[in-house]
Amino acid sequence: MRILVTGGAGFIGSHLCVELVAKGYNLVVIDNLLPQVHGDKGSSSTYHRIKNLVEFIQDDIRNQAMLDNILQRVDVIVHLAAMTGTGQSMYSVREYIDVNVNGTAGLMDSIITRSNNIRKIIVASSRAIYGEGKYYCRKDGDVYPETRDEVLLRRGKFDPVCPVCRGVIDLRATDENSRIHPSSIYGISKYAQEEIVLNVAKTVGIPAYAFRYQNVYGPGQSLINPYTGILSIFSTVMKNGKEINVYEDGRESRDFVYIDDVVDATVAGIESPLETTVALNVGSGVNTSVENIVHLLGEAYSFDYHHKISGDYRIGDIRHNLADLKRIQSSLGYKPKVNIETGIGRFVNWVESQVNVEEKYDKSEEELFRYGLLRSRE
Ligand SMILES: NC(=O)c1ccc[n+]([C@@H]2O[C@H](COP(=O)([O-])OP(=O)(O)OC[C@H]3O[C@@H](n4cnc5c(N)ncnc54)[C@H](O)[C@@H]3O)[C@@H](O)[C@H]2O)c1
Ligand SMILES: [Zn+2]
Repeated sequence: MRILVTGGAGFIGSHLCVELVAKGYNLVVIDNLLPQVHGDKGSSSTYHRIKNLVEFIQDDIRNQAMLDNILQRVDVIVHLAAMTGTGQSMYSVREYIDVNVNGTAGLMDSIITRSNNIRKIIVASSRAIYGEGKYYCRKDGDVYPETRDEVLLRRGKFDPVCPVCRGVIDLRATDENSRIHPSSIYGISKYAQEEIVLNVAKTVGIPAYAFRYQNVYGPGQSLINPYTGILSIFSTVMKNGKEINVYEDGRESRDFVYIDDVVDATVAGIESPLETTVALNVGSGVNTSVENIVHLLGEAYSFDYHHKISGDYRIGDIRHNLADLKRIQSSLGYKPKVNIETGIGRFVNWVESQVNVEEKYDKSEEELFRYGLLRSRE
């Protein structure tokens, strides 16, 4: 079986490729080696890890003629190529929609008009499509809070409130039937990608999975991309002896899922005999606060670090994120294996093996400030 992995030189893609090659599959990768992920000379560790294991095509996912050609000789498509920065998407709207949505559209056109050999399609969706996710109100039951009100954020009131009674609400794990209401252009583009793939797959009768990945972390995540990956950003700031700016009150949390678990889930999707088209959460099922992440990282690097809990906040950021994993557990038998302590330990060991960890985060914070997307508490 020959598998096309778009974005295969990236973080998730490279780990997936290594695993699939080890399992005996033939791989084709399309990736344009985006400089903000791979550096100007394509010098990322992830690209170097896979370049001799796969047939590598350095090209843009939007090159239709190239897609039409490649799709005639693959059986399965794993579509990971995308622009991935939530904050950056808010001031690069056209680019995000073009790469993520139009790129996916071109892939679908190619499947429909040029190839009848595709047996399965997998697309990387994201938890970003849920916005604030699911909560419970004692009066109103399950609720899906709106994007947080800036007036409240400015006063340091960071918890979302009940959209019906404005009262206090408790976090619940977000399941796949939860309300879809992305709070960023990135989230909107991921949902469009997911819907486009599932719709076409159903129409032409090809099984498909849209994996709603939570916050994926681990060795190989870009250390130079200032727009993604909180663990990378904190690591580079720490290692350069600068102060970490923890937004809000530090209690905001994310469902951090270790890369090996994401690869397991994705491989299970590729190999599943089920003839379904379905969206599935992929997470750890546990949420960890951002402040706790700083402490875990500091411990793992075992040096003194400085952080301030600033009360700054980013427009469009969510408060918490916690995935409900029942659906993927029952359909693919998925169970996350790596907890956050173990995962951070492995991540830190890898960072320590990398040379010259340059810190570019100032640039992304400066851009967010400039465009009014990062604001300070009163
Ligand atoms: N890492 C996460 O936490 C996370 C969470 C949810 C969803 N996802 C999704 O998973 C997928 C992979 O993410 P990742 O973390 O590995 O990111 P990544 O940036 O490491 O990988 C994406 C790859 O796509 C390539 N790419 C970007 N634009 C392209 C274009 N126009 N043509 C061809 N290739 C292009 C990049 O060069 C890169 O190698 C993405 O679709 C992302 O939206 C990731
Ligand atoms: Zn209520």
